[in-house]
Amino acid sequence: MTLPEPHSQVTAAAVLLRTGGVVAFPTETVYGLGADISSPSAVRRIFEIKKRPADHPLIVHLAGSSGLQRWAQEVPEQAWHLAECFWPGPLTLVLRRSRHVPESVTGGQDTVGLRVPDHPVALALLNALGPEKALAAPSANRFGRISPTTAAHVREELGESVDMILDGGPCRVGLESTIVGFDGQMAVILRPGGIPLPALAEVLKGRVTLSGQEELAVRVPGALKSHYAPETPLELWPSGSLSPRALQLGAKGLRVAVIAWSDQQMDHAENKNIVYFSMPAEPAGYGRLLYGTLRRFDHERFDCLLVEAPPDNPGWMAIADRLQRASCAVQRDD
Ligand code: TXA
Ligand code: MG
Repeated sequence: MTLPEPHSQVTAAAVLLRTGGVVAFPTETVYGLGADISSPSAVRRIFEIKKRPADHPLIVHLAGSSGLQRWAQEVPEQAWHLAECFWPGPLTLVLRRSRHVPESVTGGQDTVGLRVPDHPVALALLNALGPEKALAAPSANRFGRISPTTAAHVREELGESVDMILDGGPCRVGLESTIVGFDGQMAVILRPGGIPLPALAEVLKGRVTLSGQEELAVRVPGALKSHYAPETPLELWPSGSLSPRALQLGAKGLRVAVIAWSDQQMDHAENKNIVYFSMPAEPAGYGRLLYGTLRRFDHERFDCLLVEAPPDNPGWMAIADRLQRASCAVQRDD
């Protein structure tokens, strides 16, 4: 267990935020780039630092579920139920925004994404700001890139452009929150994430569905085809094709990193161009390590990252989603 930042660091961060600063802070999912939603200049800086289009909405972070009443209107019964079951935790609820939420935060939409993060530093920071406050915080990376899961990742990605980085150790979940909207009685998953689909289905007695791709593309920039992407080309291959593909590229003299979760036949053990990296064979462990692993291999200047396709299983959905988007990087559209 990582100890929270010293009290004084959190206090200093709260002072910066109150005076319009921008502070990166840890959550259980990924590091966020935070601004007080009532400071238009700080919210503008988030978009500038990330190079994010102004119409892409930000998630608003709260200290507790009682904030739902202040920041949202017409909260459906299922939303209360989900908040009760999963907050603090990796779940974002998209609800009709109240008049307290500025349009700049929601990219002009009449809905707002709300979540209570499950990290002692994030909660200490939100509590230090007070009950009338909330933090807009997208992931602390440049638009379209891999989300940071350590303070060092934030530093290398955003450096001096932020006023302060709170270090709360490596993120426990490692993938972004699950985003859920509502359509009548139905909960709609807009982005798979830290809360797996089976857990939502159980709590909602099956009244949950996956959003159609079209809707996803419009409402959620994380759903753009290429997103969460390393610089190095990334290819996804079924288990049996991974090793032949590695040998094929290795024979051309290309440096290849093979990232696999199953026990692979090591036909290429002799080939110096091919490096093999073993990931956990269960989704929680895999998710925790995924972004850090992609970032690390990106630094090591391989010609190609070959990633084993994850199991076709609802528990792996968020991982499959991120890998698919990362593998589209060659034809980037953002
Ligand atoms: O785990 C997370 O969710 C992290 C941590 C920092 O909390 N945050 C995060 O934020 O991933 P960001 O900005 O990288 O992704 C937020 C996603 C975007 O794809 C955005 O479109 C969607 O949330 N979103 C926010 N408000 C929305 C709204 N009103 N309607 C639909 N989608 C919304
Ligand atoms: Mg992001």
